[in-house]
Amino acid sequence: MLKFVSLLLALSCCQGLHHNNIDDYVEAEPVFQASKYGSLWPLPQKVQISEVSFKLSSASFRIVDAKASSAGPSCSLLQSAYRRYYEYMFGSAKKQWGSKNNRRSDPSDLTELQVWITSPDSECDGYPSVTSDESYELTVNQPVAVLKAPTVWGALHGLETFSQLVSEDEYGAKSINATIINDFPRFQHRGILLDSSRHFLPIKVILSNLETMAMNKINVFHWHIVDEQSFPYLSRTFPQLSEQGAYHPYTHVYTPADVKMVIEFARLRGIRVVPEFDTPGHTQSWGKGQKDLLTPCYSGSKPSGSFGPVNPILNTTYDFMAKFFTEISTVFPDGYIHLGGDEVDFTCWKSNPDIQKFMEQQHFGEDYSKLESFYIQKLLDIVASTKKGYLVWQEVFDNGVKLKADTLIHVWKGNQEQYHNEMASVTASGYQTLLSTPWYLNRISYGQDWQGFYKADPQDFKGTDEQKKLVIGGEACLWGEYVDATNLTPRLWPRASAVAERLWSAKNVTDIDDAFNRLSLHRCRMVERGIPAEPLFSSYCLHEYKGV
Ligand SMILES: *[C@@H]1O[C@H](CO)[C@@H](O)[C@H](O)[C@H]1NC(C)=O
Ligand SMILES: *[C@@H]1O[C@H](CO)[C@@H](O)[C@H](O)[C@H]1NC(C)=O
Ligand SMILES: *[C@@H]1O[C@H](CO)[C@@H](O)[C@H](O)[C@H]1NC(C)=O
Repeated sequence: MLKFVSLLLALSCCQGLHHNNIDDYVEAEPVFQASKYGSLWPLPQKVQISEVSFKLSSASFRIVDAKASSAGPSCSLLQSAYRRYYEYMFGSAKKQWGSKNNRRSDPSDLTELQVWITSPDSECDGYPSVTSDESYELTVNQPVAVLKAPTVWGALHGLETFSQLVSEDEYGAKSINATIINDFPRFQHRGILLDSSRHFLPIKVILSNLETMAMNKINVFHWHIVDEQSFPYLSRTFPQLSEQGAYHPYTHVYTPADVKMVIEFARLRGIRVVPEFDTPGHTQSWGKGQKDLLTPCYSGSKPSGSFGPVNPILNTTYDFMAKFFTEISTVFPDGYIHLGGDEVDFTCWKSNPDIQKFMEQQHFGEDYSKLESFYIQKLLDIVASTKKGYLVWQEVFDNGVKLKADTLIHVWKGNQEQYHNEMASVTASGYQTLLSTPWYLNRISYGQDWQGFYKADPQDFKGTDEQKKLVIGGEACLWGEYVDATNLTPRLWPRASAVAERLWSAKNVTDIDDAFNRLSLHRCRMVERGIPAEPLFSSYCLHEYKGV
């Protein structure tokens, strides 16, 4: 009865033959077995699945608003989610068999899922935020299944979970077991960073990955939208930034309408869009369209013709930043903006005589991190005046910049010991933090590297309970030097799914064999939904990827 029962199954007899000469690859491959949790991913906090099973028929099954729900038919967010999940559950069956196969319902069928939003404010027309209540309760039983959630954000997660409980037999018939689920995320911030500067990412790829994020209960799209290489963001205030700084001024830009579409598509799936505009380093592309923004580097006593980080000693720099971030704060509705602040190279600043003079005047000595702090503090004041909160990469904290108490510190550097120490010292200083170091998915290697991502836990550093509470989650990062629309999706999925479960499920959900069994099926489900998620290991899916 279980979907993909015959999903096969690592043939352990033959492994050595092909892998002989790969020395650093020693872990034994897991063998697929059906999990008692079926294909649920990420695993809910509390699950009870019984052996009682109901049939579901596409002809009779409906997802409807519960009578008492605070979100009625006017909540288009839910209505479009109902259609989407109906299509996920029955779409391929219809295409495969035609409407003839829609067998008549019989009394033992489950015919209804009622969705009941319990808070007076369903948040249907709002945006998800870091404090959104994402919890839900799902009861699958006769005569109806009920999904209860305080807000639409929990309901979206519950619909995904419901769809994951539906299984298919070899004739395409659908069924679902009686189940009780009580679920909520372990961490509030569960993100994925995509980089649209090293390579331009067409909107279609971004949207299909937002779709996939929702299947994994990821709730933050960290849009690393610009960097040294290109500036594809079309600014209304400073259109010359993308005219000069994008790879192509018309075909490789995100127009205001594009950005709006991404934000709304994400909202409908409970996903926040947090844009990153990284300064003062990583800004070569900004300099092309904005004269005097970057520091002229010197070779001896003459300008060399090349440019370094943002010029922190000119008033015009701050006038520009104030106008620019005022625009950003209105274009992106989320409460946070990521301000970067990583990897500032001081060589160019050191070479410039005006900067040297400024350093003297300010009594900074030879300590250029003081100059960086000078810049960042002014920038933080500018952004704070737009009423946004901000995230910064860890260097900003490491360099001792004075920060607002509610700044989020994004940890990305070092080996395990180093990032544990960093998390400990960031939280000891009272700042909230999120982790990315173990989740640089752009780094690839042979074999099942998802297991390493799965084992990393953002709270496994030495610290008090109070410190652990300051960890709000983490992000998987897929930097774009070697990634564009051709390989982004299979490189990201299902590897990012491992991070998704670590950030959603309870801390003690660590059984790697059970994870393999569920993730194998979850990956096949993503494939069935048209997402080219790469395989974990030798096996097959009932519905293979058919290309585009
Ligand atoms: C669902 O019920 C069937 C029996 O009807 C049982 O074989 C199967 O293991 C159950 N599935 C799960 C995930 O518990
Ligand atoms: C920059 O602004 C500061 C503070 O408003 C002012 O004192 C200074 O004279 C300005 N510098 C220039 C070169 O305009
Ligand atoms: C995790 O801990 C909870 C509560 O302590 C317990 O009920 C549950 O069975 C544990 N789950 C696993 C997978 O060990």
